[in-house]
Amino acid sequence: MHKRTALRHLAAAGLASSLPLAFQSTAFAQAKPFKIGFILPMTGQSASTGRQIEAAAKLYLAQNGATVAGRKIELIIKDDAGVADATRRIAQELVVSDKVDVLAGFGLTPLALATAPIATQSKTPMVVTAAATSIVTEQSPYIVRTSFTLPQVTLGIAEWASKNQIKRAVTLVADYAPGIDAEKTFKDRFKLNGGEVIGEIRSPLRNPDFAPFLQKVRDLSPDAVFVFLPSGQGAAFMKQFAERGLDKSGIRLICTGDVTDDDQLNDMGDVALNIVSSHHYSASHPSAVNKKFVEAFQAANKFRPNFMAVAGYDGMRVITKALEATKGAGGGDALLAAMKGQVFESPRGPVLIDAQTRDIVQDVYIRRVARVNGQLFNEEFDVQKAVKDPGKTK
Ligand code: PHB
Repeated sequence: MHKRTALRHLAAAGLASSLPLAFQSTAFAQAKPFKIGFILPMTGQSASTGRQIEAAAKLYLAQNGATVAGRKIELIIKDDAGVADATRRIAQELVVSDKVDVLAGFGLTPLALATAPIATQSKTPMVVTAAATSIVTEQSPYIVRTSFTLPQVTLGIAEWASKNQIKRAVTLVADYAPGIDAEKTFKDRFKLNGGEVIGEIRSPLRNPDFAPFLQKVRDLSPDAVFVFLPSGQGAAFMKQFAERGLDKSGIRLICTGDVTDDDQLNDMGDVALNIVSSHHYSASHPSAVNKKFVEAFQAANKFRPNFMAVAGYDGMRVITKALEATKGAGGGDALLAAMKGQVFESPRGPVLIDAQTRDIVQDVYIRRVARVNGQLFNEEFDVQKAVKDPGKTK
């Protein structure tokens, strides 16, 4: 901004044209806003993901300043309602018309997959702050991920189950790519440890009615049911779990933290108490960085941040630090290079953007739902350090 004003003054004095050309173009380029195009489900079944990520991205700018290396950061937030055709169309518009410097967001795996070719063709960094199927990062060399992968967070609960008298399990997952990742990871690890998977159930992604699946779980009578459902479905699932009396059936519910989602957990009630899950983020993670994050987030939004929020917040960190590293120049390849290898303390704990895979390496916690000061939280009681996505094929 300063530079632009200075340049305007010089131009008025008839001096701009006498400046070296390189200086003029750099000054103009640095004065241009730096545009981050977030494509998020702001409506529809996954609307909470959009709401959480938008709030976190705005908080990051409020806390860290909206000007980085002389460039004003401009957030463009677009709603794809969780529909892949819309994501693809919006991504194209953002790249071609808005000329965004970075694409970000992607609330569900199919939405990230639909956008990957656009990132590759236009050499636009694509920062995935939600979609969590292992293969997502392999779809374009321009993808960097700040969320997690299902294989990464499922191993922990599979290990815990084997060590806690669970011998026969049923899996129940959403019937699409991240669900298949979770199902496979749980099954492989649980069996390796001597457990037996006696049923594999998949529920539709859109508007699932869990009743028939819960009946099937009941009929199979396992020691535990392992569940993965995408963020936003946990509360409806828990309600039906309780209504069908499964909480009193002696069948343990174990899951990834997507089910005991901080966005909904507090409304689930006592049925959620003592559920053990594994995940990379809990709003009650006991670190100074997280306390500060949660307090500021709640003060600004009047709701609790969940794992989607933390990925959005860290996504902003990765993008703006990369811009800083390029001294405000930006550019797809330079930004991408500066995103790779970033190491920092996130509200979730220490993280690394693996330079080889462009995926996040992070601690995975084993947690138990408890009431703390009248509110339900996932209380961490064990940790696996620096977990890489075990699902990568290369
Ligand atoms: C995904 O579609 O990749 C996805 C969405 C929400 C989750 C996990 C995975 O909680």
